[in-house]
Amino acid sequence: MLEFEEKKAIVTGATRGIGRAITEALLAQGATVVGLYGGNHAAAEVMQAECAQYGDRLRLQQLDVSEYQAVASFFAQLEAQWETLDILVNNAGIRRDAVLPMMKEEDWRRVIDVNLTGGYIMAKFAVPLMLRQKYGRILFVTSPMGHLGFAGQANYAASKAGQIGLMKSLSREVAKRKITVNCVSPGFIATDFIDDLPEAQVKEYRKMVPANRFGTPAEVADAALFLLSDRAAYVNGAVLEITGGL
Ligand code: NAI
Repeated sequence: MLEFEEKKAIVTGATRGIGRAITEALLAQGATVVGLYGGNHAAAEVMQAECAQYGDRLRLQQLDVSEYQAVASFFAQLEAQWETLDILVNNAGIRRDAVLPMMKEEDWRRVIDVNLTGGYIMAKFAVPLMLRQKYGRILFVTSPMGHLGFAGQANYAASKAGQIGLMKSLSREVAKRKITVNCVSPGFIATDFIDDLPEAQVKEYRKMVPANRFGTPAEVADAALFLLSDRAAYVNGAVLEITGGL
């Protein structure tokens, strides 16, 4: 029996990078996954084709996690089919960097909306489905920038710090019902997310990492799968760093 057989999961930001790695790891361990993505239909089509071996255990769907009504309708439809939910991975995230005096209000709001409010909305609708069966695993993908801060990322760092406060509060609310709520906190991970960085900056960031390399999405997925598994039943309210020692 595979570790996640008969488990029903939702992963946000599932078609690329870290979210895709977590989704594929869950699928490989037998889970059924609804993978949500922001808007890149081409990436979703590629993934669906590349994951053909999982058949109807993978369903990819476009959904902006910051749109309250859209998320409400998504869960209403899902509930009609699933009734309960075992796993929610709040991975969707964006960055819109600028030093604070130059940061546009829309960029501040959008980053908070997607990274933090999106996580709140998804968890708000997921928790009742987990309470129904007195079991659940909720995982947020935060960032060390949430406690370190980073010049040019005040919006992003604030959203990631906010996720930790949200995760810790929710973990206390649901602990008695055998629902755990945790964070993984990846360091520099080679994905499209940091693809726009100039080579000189990449070199500088790599030097900051004691392991002297960027991590891979699969390395984050390994840690995520532990926290999502039954083996992690007594890990709650935790932030697990996957940073190469940053
Ligand atoms: P990525 O850019 O490759 O993937 C982001 C995913 O989020 C995409 O699938 C996209 O469709 C989805 N998304 C964006 N806006 C959305 C919205 N409004 N609604 C639904 N989905 C939306 O990024 P990556 O690197 O895989 O990042 C995933 C998470 O990991 C993010 O939360 C990011 O903040 C976090 N992270 C990434 C690090 C890195 O170095 N790559 C380091 C630390 C944290």
